[in-house]
Amino acid sequence: MIKFYKNALLATIACFFMLVLLNFTAAAQQKQFTPGQLWPDDKGVHINAHGGGLLYQKGIYYWFGEHKIAGGAGNRAMVGVHCYSSKDLYNWKDEGIALAVSPDTTNDIAKGCILERPKVVYNKKIKKYVMWFHLELLGQSYKAARAGVAISDKVTGPYTFIRSYRPNPGFMPYYPTGTSDADMVNCEHPKNKSDGFFCRDVHGGQMARDMNVFVDDDGKAYHIFSAEENFTLDIAEMNDTYTGHTGKFARVYAGHQTEAPAIFKHNGIYYLIGSGTTGWAPNPARWFSAKSIYGPWTYRGNPCVGKDAEITFGGQSTYVLPVAGKKDTFIFMADKWTPKDAIDGRYIWLPITFKGDNIEISWFDNWDLSVFDKTTK
Ligand code: GAL
Repeated sequence: MIKFYKNALLATIACFFMLVLLNFTAAAQQKQFTPGQLWPDDKGVHINAHGGGLLYQKGIYYWFGEHKIAGGAGNRAMVGVHCYSSKDLYNWKDEGIALAVSPDTTNDIAKGCILERPKVVYNKKIKKYVMWFHLELLGQSYKAARAGVAISDKVTGPYTFIRSYRPNPGFMPYYPTGTSDADMVNCEHPKNKSDGFFCRDVHGGQMARDMNVFVDDDGKAYHIFSAEENFTLDIAEMNDTYTGHTGKFARVYAGHQTEAPAIFKHNGIYYLIGSGTTGWAPNPARWFSAKSIYGPWTYRGNPCVGKDAEITFGGQSTYVLPVAGKKDTFIFMADKWTPKDAIDGRYIWLPITFKGDNIEISWFDNWDLSVFDKTTK
């Protein structure tokens, strides 16, 4: 009997040490990015923050993204927006659910709705974190095409949902100097499908699907979204609390179907990377540049080079991160979607290389931030 207890005690101790070891392995420090591979968080669980965006605050990066669940229906919002934090961009701590979907089926963000591409910015005036996302109402597939907004006093949340709507009802586009007559909308005589959708939606507000939020050096924020049945991107000014739109917006690359917009600024030039519109399947990325946020934007082709460049290495853009404190250092972030098992979606983070005002994105099986010391001129 004593022997039995002794053996059981030994087995328990062995189990305990194995668990400690496993936990230690799970939390092993990562020192590089491995695009397209599983990316374990501090608990050893693959990061669940798809279609995400980053926010940098006081030495810490926060990554917000769609929490997916397993299986084919896993792209619907069954949980909410997941948040992670990191000091070095390689190792991420699970901070939990920042915005939870509602159990109330009549709520705009009801469990089972579609809530995509969340992006968080900090507003100094109201001293709050503001989260924007693409929202589709429960059971309506992609019909609603709304922008949703939630706020929080704390970066990791919990965020409180405020409202969802289609932006800028009643407003016509802003045309920067240099816009050709051919690019202007005439709702008496819409000249193509895209203009037609624009005119149809003037009254109720423009459709807002794939999106991003960009805060400029002067503190002004802009909401960039796929409008007009995804035919055109709108770049819309936000109000000074970042919780609404002002009515001033430009149309970008009208009629050419661009999704997955990500904006950044380098040496006074605005860069915009997006994708075509093929759902979860990858397509060639496209980029644009402009001297003013409202354009005119110049189409510059595909920024990706090398093998699989024509499918963005299997991914679709979601964000471009300016790395804090590192000059000329921008990371292109994309999602490799896995619609049959949404939770298994992977992240493709790659360095952006500048060649004059040209950009290039090349594949790396693994890399770390020191590549910027070598590649950027
Ligand atoms: C993609 C879009 C994703 C998601 C998907 C649904 O094109 O970028 O965010 O909306 O379509 O099919």
